[in-house]
Amino acid sequence: MRLILLGGPGAGKGTQANFIIQKLGIPQISTGDMLRAAVKAGTELGLEAKKYMDSGALVPDEVIIGLVKERITQPDCQKGFLFDGFPRTIPQAEAMKEAGVDIDYVVEIAVPDEEIIKRMSGRRVHLPSGRTYHVVFNPPKVEGKDDVTGEPLIQRDDDKEETVRKRLEVYHAQTEPLVDYYKKWEASGDPKAPKYVRIDGIGKVEEIRDRIFAAIGA
Ligand code: AP5
Ligand code: ZN
Repeated sequence: MRLILLGGPGAGKGTQANFIIQKLGIPQISTGDMLRAAVKAGTELGLEAKKYMDSGALVPDEVIIGLVKERITQPDCQKGFLFDGFPRTIPQAEAMKEAGVDIDYVVEIAVPDEEIIKRMSGRRVHLPSGRTYHVVFNPPKVEGKDDVTGEPLIQRDDDKEETVRKRLEVYHAQTEPLVDYYKKWEASGDPKAPKYVRIDGIGKVEEIRDRIFAAIGA
């Protein structure tokens, strides 16, 4: 199965991606995680991307589209994949359509902006795996340590309140138009159109997981 997880910063895409990929046995393709790995490795791509990420802006479409097109040719993607945080602009979505990358479901996780600001300040991340926790809402078994590896958790550079507000603005301006884009495509009756499902993203992590599983028949 091929899925897209759509939602604002902090909507819970990474958290829910973890459940979905385990259940379906498909890889997670998080462009945010890929970019953070490049930043950490100090590659040319990482140096370029960091400027945009730290300010809360989007990395240019050509860069992201190239990265994703390459990733989905890898053998583990044959059985399907889950896009997390991609596509994030109409040109990114169009690039997949033009490349014939058919998607089964677009799952939007809907969370109001005020709730997002609350979530971001308590977020902690295990960088190598992308596993995400929250100090109050989704704490690790041992404080400050990843559940699986025991390695330290960090706070992301772009989780400062000012940057989160900028990321929300960018989401509403550049990514939210994808909601209409996919709804219209589905309504056109094109058999290649993904099914669009909107999930209420407020509630316990496990409740949201079950809503998503029910919606995609997993
Ligand atoms: P990216 O890494 O994709 O960040 P984002 O979309 O802003 O989303 P987040 O990762 O911040 O949030 P999330 O939805 O995964 O939530 P999470 O599960 O962590 O992108 C970062 C940057 O990279 C972008 O700003 C851009 O510069 C660049 N980039 C990436 N992709 C790009 C693209 N396609 N095009 C261009 N540029 C791109 O949850 C958040 C917190 O809430 C956690 O602490 C979690 O534990 C907690 N939480 C989760 N669920 C719940 C719940 N139900 N109740 C309470 N707390 C919860
Ligand atoms: Zn994420």
